[in-house]
Amino acid sequence: MKQLVIAIDGYSSCGKSTTAKAVAAALHYAYVDTGAMYRAVTLHLLEHQIPFDDLGRVEAALHELTISFRRNRRTGRNEVFLNGVNREDDIRQMVISNSVSEVSVIVMVRHAMVAQQQRMGRRRGVVMDGRDIGTTVFPDAEVKVFMTADVVVRAQRRQVELAGNGEQVALDDIIENLRKRDHLDSTRAESPLRRAADAVLLDTTHLVIDEQVDFVLERVSAAL
Ligand code: C5P
Repeated sequence: MKQLVIAIDGYSSCGKSTTAKAVAAALHYAYVDTGAMYRAVTLHLLEHQIPFDDLGRVEAALHELTISFRRNRRTGRNEVFLNGVNREDDIRQMVISNSVSEVSVIVMVRHAMVAQQQRMGRRRGVVMDGRDIGTTVFPDAEVKVFMTADVVVRAQRRQVELAGNGEQVALDDIIENLRKRDHLDSTRAESPLRRAADAVLLDTTHLVIDEQVDFVLERVSAAL
């Protein structure tokens, strides 16, 4: 059967990853969480105390770090490995969310991540979620979905997710973080968060996961 690229872009915490993972599982496709890659770079820079504006050190860091994904057989989760070490839980913390959009604005970081993402999807048969998949990473993706949702609903979902990871964060702090990231992500010069002209809009404010997944799978059927 024809192997597609499915691009799921949109604002922070709209349910992109949850939807993308379920779609990938239903189709037996690979899943790539591109946000996890920017989070991993951020974690590396913070841990090595590399200032984000020290481009020489950022460039050296990009050469020395490797980011990969492995499926956890017990949980079925796709987890991110930084230099061979599982850092899945660490990259989800608020300290990373608070800095990641300042790192993802750096042009050389974007070029390195986009190149790796294009390599990961070169055989197609992949669901990729992020901010610039349908516009920059795979402008030729056969299915493009752009997700949005009310910011309070998004923050509530994120709060539950963080609590599941053992972190209690006030709703207002999460709302502020989402607004700040959306603004930085949408206004950066290099591959900003933007709906591709041919992406279909999906507002998840009043939807449950199954409805979101069905919506994408219907688009897939239409594209096959
Ligand atoms: O998807 P997630 O919320 O984990 O992404 C974290 C951050 O990574 C985003 O706020 C954005 O700054 C950056 N990102 C990006 N391009 C992507 C995916 C994520 O700039 N394709």
